[in-house]
Amino acid sequence: MNVLLLGSGGREHALAWKIAQSPLCGKLWIAPGNPGTASCGENVALSPVDFDALKAFCRQNKVDLVVVGPEAPLVAGIVDAFSSDPGTASIPVIGPTRDAAQLEGSKSFAKRFMLRHGIPTAAYREFHAGQLDEALAALPAFGLPVVLKADGLAAGKGVLICSTLQEAESELRAMLAGKFGAASATVVLEAFLTGREMSVFALSDGQHYVLLPCAKDYKRVGEGDSGLNTGGMGAVCPVPFASPGLMHRIEERMVRTTLEGLKKDGLIYKGFIYFGLMIVDNDPFLIEYNCRLGDPETQAVMPMIKSDLLALMARVSGEGLQSAVLQQEPGYAATVILASGGYPGDYQTGLEITGLHQSEDALIFHAGTTLGQDRKLLTAGGRVLASTARGSELTEALRKAYAQANKLNFKAKFIRKDIGFDII
Ligand code: AMP
Ligand code: GLY
Repeated sequence: MNVLLLGSGGREHALAWKIAQSPLCGKLWIAPGNPGTASCGENVALSPVDFDALKAFCRQNKVDLVVVGPEAPLVAGIVDAFSSDPGTASIPVIGPTRDAAQLEGSKSFAKRFMLRHGIPTAAYREFHAGQLDEALAALPAFGLPVVLKADGLAAGKGVLICSTLQEAESELRAMLAGKFGAASATVVLEAFLTGREMSVFALSDGQHYVLLPCAKDYKRVGEGDSGLNTGGMGAVCPVPFASPGLMHRIEERMVRTTLEGLKKDGLIYKGFIYFGLMIVDNDPFLIEYNCRLGDPETQAVMPMIKSDLLALMARVSGEGLQSAVLQQEPGYAATVILASGGYPGDYQTGLEITGLHQSEDALIFHAGTTLGQDRKLLTAGGRVLASTARGSELTEALRKAYAQANKLNFKAKFIRKDIGFDII
């Protein structure tokens, strides 16, 4: 089976690493990939949102399956673009249709979906650009802190948690006036939930699903979950506090209800669904959907999957996932992100990375790296590398992941030192 994987981050390196191990895997291409994915397959210089070029590549190279890493191609309708073209209609793309991808592409769409199908979530109201006065009047009822969300995709920056009414009012004005462009022409106001966050991932064929091992990521840049939001500074898998009882409630109240809701609404969803959850007093509340896997969660989740993930993805478009089982490795995995000093603000790139000797105890996944003219590996992004390790206990996984992260070096390297410490 020839596979084309779209994306270029750490999530895609981890996916490529897992897919390449499958006995079913023939050729594996990654578009555009990174120096890490080049060790799992062949990188091709195509943009994940250039659908015409991707379709031509798939036809010419007899691609049997397309796996989409990031959300942008899904929200832009790659599934529809392939299925509506007779030349590519027979090539399955793992992911939801454009309409179903609105679960990630529009916060108000997602909130209305949750409400319609009885999925527990924070209380909310939505307001459009012409409704500033009504929005300002509605703010105090949410209490403090209050959460303001740009409706559309805003490169991970569209969620603001305001601790004073004054701050909330001024941010609300700015957002409705276009702070995030068209993405904040609609704003969702949401009650703040206090609890523990975790991420649950399902692979669905539209009828049935398998759950991947659950994970917890660390989004803030600073220790003790302080400072600015980032794409994620580390992750652990599975989540020690996710008891069988809690997982049962998540499956019943979130996963099954979502799949039934999609069917009722006539939305076609054959791909990964990410449930971003807040656990409040042992009960799950849905904070967000993503129509893809998490980054950096995937870098911790892939090494914990014992089953052949490519075989399961092939079933999504083939025989279906009825009675499919996803087997999990015992123990835990931990991922530590090596970031560029200054991230998530400004940072330098083009800095040489050293200490890349792969240890037997851990994995290195590339995110923001590039090869220089002399084939030296250089930094090329805010999140540069992920160091992942497994252990029978979470402490062991963390120890090995940190040991490797400490050996890898580049100027102004930055690591959050407390990944997983709150849950061991
Ligand atoms: P989202 O993009 O909706 O996942 O929001 C980004 C982050 O903001 C989440 O991962 C949470 O840490 C935080 N967040 C979002 N909504 C809420 C909420 N209602 N209560 C508390 N924290 C929230
Ligand atoms: N780690 C959060 C995300 O992938 O959205």
